[in-house]
Amino acid sequence: MKVAIGSDHAGLTLKKHITHILDELEIEWEDAGTDCEESCDYPDYGEKVAEAVSLGNVDRGILVCGTGIGMSIVANKFPGVRAALCSEDYSAKMSRLHNDANVLVLPGRMIEQATAREIVTTWFKTEFEGGRHQRRLDKIKAIESRLNK
Ligand code: RB5
Repeated sequence: MKVAIGSDHAGLTLKKHITHILDELEIEWEDAGTDCEESCDYPDYGEKVAEAVSLGNVDRGILVCGTGIGMSIVANKFPGVRAALCSEDYSAKMSRLHNDANVLVLPGRMIEQATAREIVTTWFKTEFEGGRHQRRLDKIKAIESRLNK
C-alpha cells in the first residue's frame, strides 16, 4: 500500500499529523506538498495526488484543505478517483464499504487531531464490500467513459 498525501496551507498542520499516523500504521507515503504555511492554491496539490491515484502510481490518496470541499471538487475530476470528504468516523467507514473510496479528504480547519486519527485508521482498516456496490461503481465508470468520449 502506497499513499500520496497533499494539502494546501490550511491543511498543512493536519497533514503533518496524518503522516505520523501513517507511520504508525506502517503505510508507505509520499508528500505532494505544500510544505509551508504560505497561502497557496488547493487545486495545485489536489491535482498531484488525484493524478497519481488516477494513473495508478499510488494505491490511495489523502488530501487536506480548510473545509475539504475544494480538494474534493478537484480530486473527483480525475478518472477512476472516488474521493470522499469525511469529518467523522461513520462516513469514513461507509466510504470504504460502499464506495471503495480511493482518496480520503479531510477538513483541516474543522476537526480535531483525535477525530482525524479515528477517520484515517478506520479508512485504512475497512475493506470494500463489493456485490451490489460494485454494480454501482461500474455505473460510475460508465458515466466517466461516456463523458470522456
Ligand atoms: C483556503 O483559505 C481555503 O479556501 C481552502 O483551504 C479550502 O477550504 C477550499 O475549499
